[in-house]
Amino acid sequence: MSINKIIARQAAYYAHDAQQWNNSPHALQFPHYASLLDLQLPKHNRYAICNLRGGIGKSTLTFNLAHGANDVLAVDTCPQGNSSSFFSSGGGVSGTTIYDALLPYLLPRMSFPSNIAQKVKTFNPYFDGLNVHFVPSSPNLYEFPSIMESALSQARGIPGVANIKAREQILNSMRDLLDRETKKVDTKKVLIDTSPFFSGATHLTWHAVDSLIVPVRTDQQSVNSLQLLIDILTDSGRSFLRSQDNLSLSSPKIQMVVVTHCGWSTRSGAKHEPNNQTKIYLEKVREIVATNIHLFTTNDPDNHIVPLDDFLGSGRISSAKSIPIKCLKPQQSFTISGQQVTVNASVEKCQKQLAFITKNIW
Ligand SMILES: Nc1ncnc2c1ncn2[C@@H]1O[C@H](COP(=O)(O)OP(=O)(O)OP(=O)(O)O)[C@@H](O)[C@H]1O
Ligand SMILES: [Mg+2]
Repeated sequence: MSINKIIARQAAYYAHDAQQWNNSPHALQFPHYASLLDLQLPKHNRYAICNLRGGIGKSTLTFNLAHGANDVLAVDTCPQGNSSSFFSSGGGVSGTTIYDALLPYLLPRMSFPSNIAQKVKTFNPYFDGLNVHFVPSSPNLYEFPSIMESALSQARGIPGVANIKAREQILNSMRDLLDRETKKVDTKKVLIDTSPFFSGATHLTWHAVDSLIVPVRTDQQSVNSLQLLIDILTDSGRSFLRSQDNLSLSSPKIQMVVVTHCGWSTRSGAKHEPNNQTKIYLEKVREIVATNIHLFTTNDPDNHIVPLDDFLGSGRISSAKSIPIKCLKPQQSFTISGQQVTVNASVEKCQKQLAFITKNIW
């Protein structure tokens, strides 16, 4: 199993045209420069950034891909609220949260809130001129799974076909909410940040989106959680499929696995060659993707794996200051908790990688 094409694509970011690409050592094996840079993935409207592990880049990717997309509704379903904090420039969240918006679907006596999505540019100046809205999260989401479970169990007790309708209404609540909010903010594109656990809002998100973007960090636990995600998607004994019996609900495909925190060899002459750790995890990820290719949106594993370099100091600055990676310049300096942190030169490569991901999903 070879990761050569995935690596060659990294080198292709740096060739300005086909002629320059022909001088690259990778060109012998992959002569078609233009097709190497086009993953030929079907384009969808609604994506969830999802994997069942913390600290792998879900919130960071949500924030940066929303900025790159320009025209998108972002929803934060993680009770930790990191992407809400990035969108609101760390200013704390006010207004209707995703918890407030979903609760009336589970507790029918509650009324639906009217103002939900908020304009990001009102809070974060780096989104000026962009049609990006967000729905913030709430710490109450920690309790959402048990509220959802008891609503589903009450619905199961309803006699006749009303039972099916009531359960579908609960499990399609995120989908219904997105239908309404995307109309209001005049965009079809949606990006949902999820938590590292499945029950509750992530479960509803899977019924609401077309496909998943799965960050996998270059460590064994992240690779295990990719396998766990696939098990939940396919195992009829687990809650996602089990709760769907007799119901008409949709399941997401997987569009892309973004391998985050990649590092590259510093050996002299080893241009665009991954370091050993990155290589090992790219190979492991490729094997899982190839084995489960029927869950993906095309049948070529190489189309679905995109490395994203470790952001290093730029990631720290981006998180602490709520600045999209695209807006950072090498050598810029910021003070974080009394410490001077400088934007690393490799930020330009990360910017190219993020632009590549954006171009290939929308
Ligand atoms: N290539 C990369 N992609 C994403 N994040 C990166 C990358 N390189 C470094 N980072 C850093 O890794 C951290 C990822 O944290 P993030 O909050 O996005 O993870 P998460 O998956 O949302 O975690 P949680 O499940 O706890 O919410 C951030 O500090 C980010 O700056
Ligand atoms: Mg997060």
